[in-house]
Amino acid sequence: QKKISWYDFLLAHSRQTFILFDMTYRIRSVMFLSTFVALLAGITSCNKGGGGATGDTIVVGEFASLTGSEATFGTSSHEGTLLAFEDLNAAGGLFGKKFELITEDNLSKAGDSATIANKLISKDNAVALLGEVASGRSNEAAPICQQNKIPMISPASTNPNVTQKGDYIFRVCFTDVFQGKVLSNFAHNSLKAKKVAIFTDAKSDYSKGLTKYFKENFSKVGEINLELNYNGKDKDFRGQLTSLKASNPDAIFVPGYYADVAVICIQAKELGITTPIFGGDGWESEDLLKLGLDSMEGKYFSTHYSPEVSSAKSVAFVEAYKKRFNGKVPDAMAALGYDSALVLADAMKRAGTTDGEKVKIALAATKDFQGVTGNITMNADRDVEKAMVILQIKDGKFKYLETVNP
Ligand code: PHE
Repeated sequence: QKKISWYDFLLAHSRQTFILFDMTYRIRSVMFLSTFVALLAGITSCNKGGGGATGDTIVVGEFASLTGSEATFGTSSHEGTLLAFEDLNAAGGLFGKKFELITEDNLSKAGDSATIANKLISKDNAVALLGEVASGRSNEAAPICQQNKIPMISPASTNPNVTQKGDYIFRVCFTDVFQGKVLSNFAHNSLKAKKVAIFTDAKSDYSKGLTKYFKENFSKVGEINLELNYNGKDKDFRGQLTSLKASNPDAIFVPGYYADVAVICIQAKELGITTPIFGGDGWESEDLLKLGLDSMEGKYFSTHYSPEVSSAKSVAFVEAYKKRFNGKVPDAMAALGYDSALVLADAMKRAGTTDGEKVKIALAATKDFQGVTGNITMNADRDVEKAMVILQIKDGKFKYLETVNP
């Protein structure tokens, strides 16, 4: 029999300290402290078993990379999600109940998200799960949601495999089939590239997928002259970058996540690479600029949303988010997190229940939902066909270049 550690004991008894209103999010390092406070306050009773469909709140679970190498992904999506539930609760909640968001940090690590999904479903009685940004971690949790008949909505995972895990798995963003195609058109038409070299993160489902769909398209109009890999979190990319430079491409495509991309661009600059470098949505983070500094200048990437987009929904969201989070400007993950929560609440409302099977049917029928990131209609694959934006880094800022419709 498995011994229960103190950590697990505290984890199991700390839930009542996390109610949406005063909670920002639960990170492991502060968990001990809040549990201690709860114990001092005399709240030592067992988990009341509330939540789920029968308790006095509607419990929604969230798994996110709040810390670790992709910390800005989870922090942003969480903040957007939290703001949405606060808005919903301020408007009265749903079915006479308030939403309660329980957020778990997977530390940006592979291998934790399935355990977290299990915990959110079986211990916290979450009626639906929101997450993740990174496709690999969404892929880990999706089978658990599918087995338990608990709807899951990924705000920002673009790898096609995610929603193919089953009919309970949805997303509110476009997929890399579209992103790969648009990036190929961008390289061909805007960068006028005839030869493109690709540098892929072999450890990332996202990176491998985006490379695949880019190649499928670009090889029809140009040449992929060299393909090399790296492993996410590597620190030295100079060997591959030297080979990439020697192959003399017109542009280099790096479908990676921001922390690696920043180091890659710094080292590329050191090696005297002046070839245009471009990537996908995984680049989007304020930390890309903090880490990569002037080596990021002139680079391009595609993403889901720009706060410069002036739709009424977007303007109101930017305003509300800045007010809520100390003047911080929302990024794509924040906007998608917000939309994922609203799409879920809308489906529950139409279903008239939080029952997983009925909510799943309502989610699949989502049509013309006006989100911050655009019009959301679930297609037959539970994916959304939505506009993509291309940004360029100019004067140390993300500059909106163009919107591409599907
Ligand atoms: N699309 C990326 C993935 O699937 C995650 C991501 C989304 C990163 C949006 C940044 C912005 O892994």
